[in-house]
Amino acid sequence: MLRLNNIHAFYGHVHALRGVSLEVPKGKIISLLGGNGAGKSSTLNIISRLIQPKEGSYELEGTSMLRKSAGEMVKHGVIQCPENRRVFPLLTVEENLKIGAYIRKDKNIKSDMEKVFTYFPRLQERLQQKAGTLSGGEQQMLAIGRSLMGKPKLLLLDEPSLGIAPILVREIFKIIKEINDEGTAILLVEQNAHMAMEISDYSYILENGRVALEGNSKDLKDNDEVRKLYLGA
Ligand SMILES: Nc1ncnc2c1ncn2[C@@H]1O[C@H](COP(=O)(O)OP(=O)(O)OP(=O)(O)O)[C@@H](O)[C@H]1O
Ligand SMILES: [Mg+2]
Repeated sequence: MLRLNNIHAFYGHVHALRGVSLEVPKGKIISLLGGNGAGKSSTLNIISRLIQPKEGSYELEGTSMLRKSAGEMVKHGVIQCPENRRVFPLLTVEENLKIGAYIRKDKNIKSDMEKVFTYFPRLQERLQQKAGTLSGGEQQMLAIGRSLMGKPKLLLLDEPSLGIAPILVREIFKIIKEINDEGTAILLVEQNAHMAMEISDYSYILENGRVALEGNSKDLKDNDEVRKLYLGA
């Protein structure tokens, strides 16, 4: 479905991506792993067209996306859930969810909100609460819920487990799997390599803006180098 080939990206003089190539097949969960500053968020920002590559190609379902705007990517069903669970703190839970559907003109917004509540019942209980007063874990649920309101074909998740208690992380990963089971492809950026490899089909490990290793998540989990460097084993 999505294919990046030899993507280079710069921030001023910082050469953040140095030839990233990766694929997300339809309906799969792919994880994008690596340490701080490896280029994970930059790769997602290329895919959602928040930043522009200097070189390389980017195709979605066989069509080049290099000339598309970030807004057009949302219309194509490519939706990014940003790092640090960014929600609109002064707006209510309900208003945040509605913003996720801003680009849509259809009338299913109410039923899709109900769908979000089946994944995250807590959001329904807190519908009129200001998002800024939610706990960190609840804000992460809201950020994911808001992304779902855009009806993603491809959901880009940037570190959904960051700063969240382990028990809630497990719950969020379970829901990510459920979202995928209903047909949404997911590109999952994670520092929690162990959990990410558990639920993904294939993994890429970035280092200094390059793919250092890739493979079926099952195989990578048993790879000695990966275990030493990324799984703390
Ligand atoms: N807006 C920016 N301006 C300048 N440099 C940037 C900017 N955003 C990212 N960078 C640099 O690009 C490189 C890749 O950053 P990126 O945010 O993609 O890493 P990451 O893998 O997501 O890291 P983390 O796990 O810390 O979120 C880093 O060296 C970072 O300092
Ligand atoms: Mg990042």
